[in-house]
Amino acid sequence: MATILVTGANRGIGLALAEQFAARGDEVIGTARKPESAQALSKIAEVQLCDVADDNSVVALAERLEGRIIDLLINNAGILEIDDLHSVSSASMIRQFNVNAVGPLRVTQALRPNLALSDAPKVACVTSRMGSITDNTSGRFYGYRSSKAALNMVGKCLSLDLAPTPVVLLHPGMVKTDMVGGNGDVTAEEAALKLIAIIDRAGPGDTGQFLHRDDYELPW
Ligand SMILES: NC(=O)c1ccc[n+]([C@@H]2O[C@H](COP(=O)([O-])OP(=O)(O)OC[C@H]3O[C@@H](n4cnc5c(N)ncnc54)[C@H](OP(=O)(O)O)[C@@H]3O)[C@@H](O)[C@H]2O)c1
Repeated sequence: MATILVTGANRGIGLALAEQFAARGDEVIGTARKPESAQALSKIAEVQLCDVADDNSVVALAERLEGRIIDLLINNAGILEIDDLHSVSSASMIRQFNVNAVGPLRVTQALRPNLALSDAPKVACVTSRMGSITDNTSGRFYGYRSSKAALNMVGKCLSLDLAPTPVVLLHPGMVKTDMVGGNGDVTAEEAALKLIAIIDRAGPGDTGQFLHRDDYELPW
């Protein structure tokens, strides 16, 4: 049994990850911005307050968890604000950077002592193919694309700085969640199952990889 912390676990992919880990007997700590509204999560996991965009909230989380082993940290929380060249604003760019790129760094930095207590720690970041510069053939989504490209760099740096701890960057595919108005090609449960399979098999030799949920490398 491992202890697994998932950020943004009250709905979507984060909730599906939490449910599947809990169902197989792992101890799950799921974070939510509004724990009092995280009913589904609270049935299967310990719920902890955390706004990944807020330094104080992340530090407070780390203080509450001080001394507890975390075997696997999944930086899942994210936001998507649709934009194009006409509508994109600096405020929206900064919001998405703060949640999607700085958030995972903030949480990993704060929970590093907890990961260090594990015999076999791992870190997974839920990124997006939309953060691939090579794969961008359609433009738009300035804030989301840039923030996920930045997350990919954060993950790559973490993979080097935390070695030999495996750090993987995972693209879940288009998943039917609120983020995309339910317009994905797989459910959150199907995506979570595949992400968990990759995380389970990931070892030190896989660190720093940017992987599709179907377990192949994506171009940076
Ligand atoms: N769905 C897709 O097709 C798709 C594709 C590629 C990548 N992804 C990535 O997958 C991850 C999960 O997305 P999803 O589809 O499950 O989205 P979702 O259904 O919109 O869920 C997003 C989760 O992130 C949380 N969150 C947002 N801002 C937060 C903050 N500042 N602090 C803490 N938690 C915060 C949300 O909490 P609240 O309920 O409080 O808002 C919610 O729990 C994201 O990183 C996303 O970029 C999704």
